[in-house]
Amino acid sequence: MKVLPAAPSIPRPPGPKSQFPLLGVFPRFRKDPPNFLLQMARQHGDLVHLRLANQHAYIVSHPDAIRDVLVTHQSNFRKSRILERARVLLGEGLLTSEGEFHTRQRRLVQPAFHRDRLIRYADDMVNCAVRAREQLQPGEQDVWHAMTHLTLAIVGRTLFSADISSDANQIGGALTEIFSLFDTLLMPFSEWLMKLPLPAMRKFERARDQLDRVVYGLIADRRASREDKGDLLSMLLLAQDTDGEGGGDGSGMSDKQVRDEALTLLLAGHETTANALSWCWYLLGQNPDAEARFHAEIDTVLAGKTPAFDDVPRLPFTTGVFAESLRLYPPAWAVGRKALADYKIGDYVLPAGSIVLTSPFVVHRDPRWFPEPEKFDPERWHEVEAEQRPKFSYFPFGGGTRVCIGERFAWAEGVLVLATLAQKWRFRSVPDHPVVAQAVITLRPKYGIKMNAQLR
Ligand code: HEM
Repeated sequence: MKVLPAAPSIPRPPGPKSQFPLLGVFPRFRKDPPNFLLQMARQHGDLVHLRLANQHAYIVSHPDAIRDVLVTHQSNFRKSRILERARVLLGEGLLTSEGEFHTRQRRLVQPAFHRDRLIRYADDMVNCAVRAREQLQPGEQDVWHAMTHLTLAIVGRTLFSADISSDANQIGGALTEIFSLFDTLLMPFSEWLMKLPLPAMRKFERARDQLDRVVYGLIADRRASREDKGDLLSMLLLAQDTDGEGGGDGSGMSDKQVRDEALTLLLAGHETTANALSWCWYLLGQNPDAEARFHAEIDTVLAGKTPAFDDVPRLPFTTGVFAESLRLYPPAWAVGRKALADYKIGDYVLPAGSIVLTSPFVVHRDPRWFPEPEKFDPERWHEVEAEQRPKFSYFPFGGGTRVCIGERFAWAEGVLVLATLAQKWRFRSVPDHPVVAQAVITLRPKYGIKMNAQLR
């Protein structure tokens, strides 16, 4: 643990006064992290200093400064604490690894996201969505639950050529257990807490074992079949068998490394999109005018045919619906970094070791870039208007070398799933059901999103 200097020797940007000597403003932050960051940025400006327990943190909210952190000066940073802690689950997968090792793994996984692959995945995305559309019954549904099942089926089918829908409940349950531990991950001194034999830790280990069973099961099945299906899993296994790039000693990737990459993609590839799609249905249900335009576009452009990859650019309003959901409820509500060396922003120097918090949730609600920021308005994404905004006023997928590898996958999936389901269904909010965004690792609806499915 770093010991803080008794008195700051360098001027710090404005920020809230620490409430508690040891914890700083951590108790306030912990209650509702994204809204706390938003409130701080509104009160103190584009650069805010906070003390979160034993760490100095800086909220950076100007798009140009965010670009510098995530892109221009990215080598001055590494991932911050939460993602470091996520190693207990994801090991050295793409999301959590660093440096040259990350670069090599990224090169290896990248071909699975090339355009020609996406075109093939789009068929699978639509097939899964058609199945969900036809199985849906009128009446009350938890759309979040339904979207989680659907996006899990999609990632299983596209990246692992496997039907993992029978494992969906197991995966969902394990994830809920793991996410409920998020609080512990955030806690100061969590590195020690996690080593104690607490009941919460045992729960976590059980949940991790469940996920491992699914992933090692996929790996074992593929090995047994000795088939190259041309998907991500085959790519990972072939790299292990032939070219020796993954292990650094000519032996390729270890079983554990294949597991880390596969689990990372399985989780990162479905939770985020499930949340984004769920918020779309919720927002459409709240905004009947926008919903009517959305339906009109789908009916006119598709004229009853099942959508395909080529239809995505022909559905700009539908794309705007997905973009607005990612703006108002960005699944990755903060993208954190740790400074490796002192870093200058304007008149201030952020000392080495500081945490830099850039938050899509905060910047996406800034009226300088999005007038009437709370308003759901898919029209904002009209090309001309969107091009006038600074690039990092909207960054739901991060930026720089660590930008989301699945970004194009997610856009295609979002638009195709929305269009396919809305050909038959609309969703209406259930009165009195509380819809509350909860920042765990992603921005999830705390009590799910109950809605009535109605035939159009
Ligand atoms: C709406 C959906 C999604 C959102 C909002 C999202 C958001 C993000 C963000 C913000 C990051 C960067 C984190 C950082 O820099 O600290 C990231 C990284 C990543 N995402 Fe996504 N993501 C989405 C969908 C997907 C999908 C569909 C996949 C895979 C199929 C995926 C796989 C990954 C991976 C592997 C990384 C780590 C990349 C690296 O560091 O090289 N994501 N995502």
